[in-house]
Order: sequence, then C-alpha cells, then structure tokens
Amino acid sequence: MKLDTILVLDLGGQYCHLIARRIREQQVYSEIIQCNVTPKEIETLNKKMNVKGLVLSGGPSSVYMKNSPKIDSRILDLNIPILGLCYGHQLIAYLSHGRVNRGKKREYGITYVTLDKPVGVLKNLNQREKVWMSHEDMVFELPEEYEILAHSDSCPIAAYRHKKRQIYGLQWHPEVIHTDNGTQILKNYIFDICNCQANWKTEEFVEKTIKEIKEIIGNKKAISALSGGIDSSLATLLASKAIGKNVNAVFVDHGFMREGEVDFVKEVFKELNVKLTLINAKKRFFKALRGIGDPENKRIIIGREFIAVFEEVARNIKAEYLIQGTIYPDRIESGIRNNSEKIKTHHNVAGIPSKIDFKGIVEPLKDLYKDEVRKIAETLELPRKIVWRQPFPGPGLAVRVTGEVTEEKVDLVRKADKIVEEEIDKSGIKRKLWQYFAVLIDTKSTGVKGDSRAYGYTVAIRAVESKEAMTASFAKIEYDVLEIMSTRITNELPSVTRVVFDITHKPPATIEWE
Ligand code: XMP
Repeated sequence: MKLDTILVLDLGGQYCHLIARRIREQQVYSEIIQCNVTPKEIETLNKKMNVKGLVLSGGPSSVYMKNSPKIDSRILDLNIPILGLCYGHQLIAYLSHGRVNRGKKREYGITYVTLDKPVGVLKNLNQREKVWMSHEDMVFELPEEYEILAHSDSCPIAAYRHKKRQIYGLQWHPEVIHTDNGTQILKNYIFDICNCQANWKTEEFVEKTIKEIKEIIGNKKAISALSGGIDSSLATLLASKAIGKNVNAVFVDHGFMREGEVDFVKEVFKELNVKLTLINAKKRFFKALRGIGDPENKRIIIGREFIAVFEEVARNIKAEYLIQGTIYPDRIESGIRNNSEKIKTHHNVAGIPSKIDFKGIVEPLKDLYKDEVRKIAETLELPRKIVWRQPFPGPGLAVRVTGEVTEEKVDLVRKADKIVEEEIDKSGIKRKLWQYFAVLIDTKSTGVKGDSRAYGYTVAIRAVESKEAMTASFAKIEYDVLEIMSTRITNELPSVTRVVFDITHKPPATIEWE
C-alpha cells in the first residue's frame, strides 16, 4: 500500500524536523527532502508514495541573498497543495512576483495575529490568535491572484492564499508548541486541503518493513550489526521476523562498552531466539586508535574497523547483506541535508567506507524518529529494559574520553559511568532523562587526597532531557544527587581529582563530548 505523504522541502530551517514530526503525529507520513528537488523527481517519488502535499520550511536566509536556497518555481504549478512557513511563505511570494523586504521591526517570539479571513488552513480559528514568529523579512505585496488572510501589528501580510490553487503561506510557525492553534492549522492543511488519510500506523510499518526485507534479501544470508541499543535491537528483530535464522546478529565488543553490556546483550537475544555471534575485538580497536586524539578521526577509524570486522564475519558465514539500525536523525546529523551543516560522523552512517564488501546494506529504521522506534519496539516483544534504555553511541566510551583512547582512561570512564547510572537509578528521575553518563576529560588538574597533593583526571557528568536528540537541555539534577556522585567518583577512583557537571544545552553543545 502506498502511504499518503507530505513532503517537507528543507530550506535550512531549524524546525524542519519538527514539521515532519508534527505531521507524523497526525498519523500521516512525512519526509524531509532537499529543496532543489525537481518536478520530475516529485513525479518519481509519487510512484513510491502518494505525494499529497508539500510544505516549504522556514530558513535563516533572505530571498534576495545570492546563495539563498530556492525551489524550482515550476513546483508551484504542479497542482499539489503547498504550505509555505516563514521563509517558505516569503519564497512563494517572491517566486510569484510579490514584494518581500526587511521589516521595520524584527518579530521574534510570541506575537498576535488578526485573521482577516478564517478559511482554508485557518478554518476554525479565533479572530485573534497567539502565534510564534521569528523573522526579519516579510511579504509587503502580493500579486492579483493571491489574497491576504491575516496580519499582525507589524506584518501586513502574515498569511495568504492563492485564489484558485491550494497554495498557502504563513509568516509564523504552526509546528512550534507556542503557537496556540498550531495543531489545528496543520490538521486543516493535512486533512482538509491535502485530503490525506491517516495511514501511517505502526502495525502497517512492521508489516511493510518485514515484506521489504524479505524482498531485498530473499533466501540469502545477512548479518545484523547489533550494539545492544534499541535501534539496532529493533532492526535485528525485524530482520529475524523477515528472514529467520538467515540473519546472524553480530555484536562486536570493541572494548568501549559499558559495564555488564556483553552479558546483557547475550541474555536478551537468547530469550528472543536470535542467532548471535560475539566478537572480542578489543586489541584491534585500541591498536587502531593509538596516538589518535581528534574526535572525527576516532569516529572514522572506529567505523572503519567495525566494518572490517563485520566483513570478516560475513565472509566466514557467507552473508551478503548488512543490517543496521540507522534512524532518521542519524542520517540528518551525518549531513544528508543540503542546507544543514554536518555535525559529526555517526559511525553507523557516514563512517562506513564507500568501498564495502556487501551486496547491500539494509536500514529498516532509516525513516523513523526515536519515539516512533520506541512505539514500534513496544508493540513487538522487545523487553522494556531495551525499549527504555538510554541511547549509547556506536563508538561507545571511546567518544566519552577526550583525546587519545587508552585502556586506563576507558576503564576509568566505565567505572564513573556506572556510578552515575546507579545514582540516577536510585534518585528516581531516570524516566525524565534522555541520557546520563560520565565523560573523562584529558586535562589533569590539582587536588588533595589524604594529606598529599594529587594530580588527576577530571570527570564530567552529563545529563540531558530531550525528545529526539536534535536539541537537548541539561537536566537540573538536585545538588544532593550530584554530591553523592561526585563523592563516590573521587573516592572510588583514586586517579580522579575533580568532578564537574555539564550545564550546556544542545545547541550549542552536542550531547556527547566528541
Ligand atoms: P550528539 O552528540 O550528536 O548525539 O548530540 C545525538 C545522539 O546520538 C547519539 N550518538 C550516536 N549514536 N552512533 C550512534 O548510533 C554514533 O556515532 C553516535 N554519536 C552520538 C548520542 O548518544 C545522542 O543520543
């Protein structure tokens, strides 16, 4: 079955993801695509999915800037409903020969708009609406074929529509929760204007994905890169449902695992009746990382070694396919978006060398957000201890020690991490947190232990709240809990003289330190 789909054209806005997620919350499938998509490519996509609507995202640019992202103006003639948000709203006006200029006043944050005509996407709204804006440019004039639907004190054309075609523009962001009736606006667009069916459901995803895996792999053999986290565990389980014993889960112990990890994974996958091979590759990874301090290099080397190990195992068991638990934000953060910056190389995506010894890579979760992965995992028989596990990066503790990776440092951070985990467990705030862990900082500092001067490592405690890891806030943990952690870490780890708490949000910091 083809899913009704709304495509979000990425014009560089920080809320691009949020738009897709909000649409999916209405059980309608949505994907982010690059804004330079051509009408022909949209036609091709239509063979895979029913493209029922397009959303042009916001973005930091000005339509008059030389290299600002634009869309092919023929897209406006495709007869597919279009909703432009913020920069997208300005871009439609600009491409239709309206006038866009810098406003006298920048509107940022909560604003009130007055509806001149509550129709189309603005149906069932109040005459005055609280909305969230963030812009300097605005639309000042529209061509004949458009009409104004709303204005604010400083923005004369805050919403418009084409008189004959289903094209709408909003200067504000309905996807942000601070816009009171944002959900209603999106529902109007999705269901009334685009006529979408709410057919993006987890049961259908499971059925469709199992079928696709069967079609791709057939009766050939595959190995599944299992890390023990929810993503790779779910990908492995789906593959096992599709091709049974022809998938062999491979867990590579690179030496950067948390305490107890290997036994945990063994136990869970035995219960699930999935074939599992454990590879102890510690020596190889430590050797490959000797002398390497740069985080990107570390990630790339670890990715390379991983694949090399997998290829060896695959050759041994004659597997032609590799299954990975890559999810949507992994791909985005590894730089598949045109107008967004590459942040870091996630080892399960861009760290993979292009010359790879597999016939194909299968990524069953590549279009899902984390909360969708959890929802699906819950409907299958994955144990809760996996579903609600905190995310753990593929390169493991190697990206939680800054600078060169040595056995001593990894051992220290593993012990500190266990203390953080135990104390968070005891404090009862675990479910509120997205991640909580320890980082070992390369720089030493002076301390006093017993009666003597000590010169030792610093451990940073990182604890964040987040919904999908694209943004995160540091968790405001009670001082008492932090104090216990700090005391335990310095007492139980003699070579640590200082413990600090990381109070940086993402952005500007990333969640992991490297
Ligand atoms: P950052 O540090 O980029 O992390 O804010 C965002 C989320 O991704 C996890 N992470 C990774 N996951 N492979 C993964 O599978 C990786 O290489 C990797 N690096 C970071 C991180 O723990 C956080 O949840």
